[in-house]
Amino acid sequence: MAQAGKNIVVGVGGGIAAYKACMVIREFTKAGHTVTAIPTAAAESFIGTATLEALTGQPATSSVFTGIPQVRHVSVGSAADLVVVAPTTADLLSRIAAGAANDMLTTTLLMATCPVLLAPAMHTQMWENSLVQRNVATLREHGYTVMEPAVGRLTGPDSGAGRLPEPHEIADMALALLEEQELATARSVPATAMPRDLTGRYIIVTAGGTREALDPVRYLGNNSSGQQGAALAACAAQRGAHVTLLLGAHDLPYLPAGVHVEPVTSALHLHHTLTALLDTHPVDAVIMAAAVADFRPTSTADTKLKKGTSSEPSSIALTRNPDILADIVTRYPHLTTVGFAAETGDSDHTVLQLGREKFARKGCHLLMVNEVGFDTTFGQPTNAGWLLGRDGAETRIPRMSKRGVAMRILDQLSTLLATQEP
Ligand code: CTP
Repeated sequence: MAQAGKNIVVGVGGGIAAYKACMVIREFTKAGHTVTAIPTAAAESFIGTATLEALTGQPATSSVFTGIPQVRHVSVGSAADLVVVAPTTADLLSRIAAGAANDMLTTTLLMATCPVLLAPAMHTQMWENSLVQRNVATLREHGYTVMEPAVGRLTGPDSGAGRLPEPHEIADMALALLEEQELATARSVPATAMPRDLTGRYIIVTAGGTREALDPVRYLGNNSSGQQGAALAACAAQRGAHVTLLLGAHDLPYLPAGVHVEPVTSALHLHHTLTALLDTHPVDAVIMAAAVADFRPTSTADTKLKKGTSSEPSSIALTRNPDILADIVTRYPHLTTVGFAAETGDSDHTVLQLGREKFARKGCHLLMVNEVGFDTTFGQPTNAGWLLGRDGAETRIPRMSKRGVAMRILDQLSTLLATQEP
């Protein structure tokens, strides 16, 4: 997790989503960071500077002619550890891409040497306009991370790509960039923007837990929160991949932007949905982060099981579910596959030993082995473990955010995919 106490600048563009910048600011202040908000003049028509100043405790102005003695148009950007612009309008994208310096936000961006995250929000037609896309490409080439917008309801009655991603997600992505920066500094290598190395790839991620029905109201389930899989889907999409997330039961606060989400219920439903996609689409990789139930009730009652009646069960008979990962490894040999091993260890084996055995059994290309328990990993914001490769490599993944772990897995997946034709 990124260390607290960083200087974060939140730029606010002049779009209807400007009010959501307040929630982004709250996420950063809650995590212990100091925030300076910089609206554009248009943003000041949407949101009061008093709100931004009250939330941050810092002056918030679009003008370069306030705070002259502090030379704020230079000092704020040079002291920043991270700049986030949410929402970034089409006009702002074009001004930043042109290197403009005609207000406090653009001068600050020119001074900043830290990671910069731009979260665009505009009408779908504007987002898809080739001039806007050219500006996005230019900005990415120049080291800015430009988030994929969310798909959904726009300002008017229509919907499409162009919605501002959820404030929670913008904050998560921003804090992941800070963490990447810290890891790069620790390794004395220069930090880069979010890479676009998965562009042109189609990746399916499974996440969450399956539910195996006993009757119309009861099921056998598990503790998976869906967070690690959602982090993988979000980061893969931001790295340029086309991503489908097959999502079982979860407690995610938001669905990742730029990702096509299909809900799934039981292991058999997940198996069927996944293989139907694999049979009809040119999928490059499947990441099996879902917690798939190994067993399902042998029979599912059509009506609710009632105590004190002839339907009251004295025990539950179970039938083994198919091993989905092992099945797709055999049936789709050209597919690159990533598995997860959720292990508690036992009196005779360490977590890593059990992970190695599982890797040999599953036959996937990469296996992320993580330790699970009553209070570790499941539902927690961090993860740790080992990433095992077919070449025998065992990479230790120290405890970091689930987005950080997702980035390490995608680094290795990207290297594997690069050896194949897109
Ligand atoms: N998995 C799967 N189908 C199943 C069970 C698990 O595809 N029926 C996948 C999971 O998504 C994960 C990997 O296999 O990527 C390992 O899951 P895990 O629950 O750790 O292992 P199991 O196969 O259930 O093995 P064990 O019972 O020995 O823990």
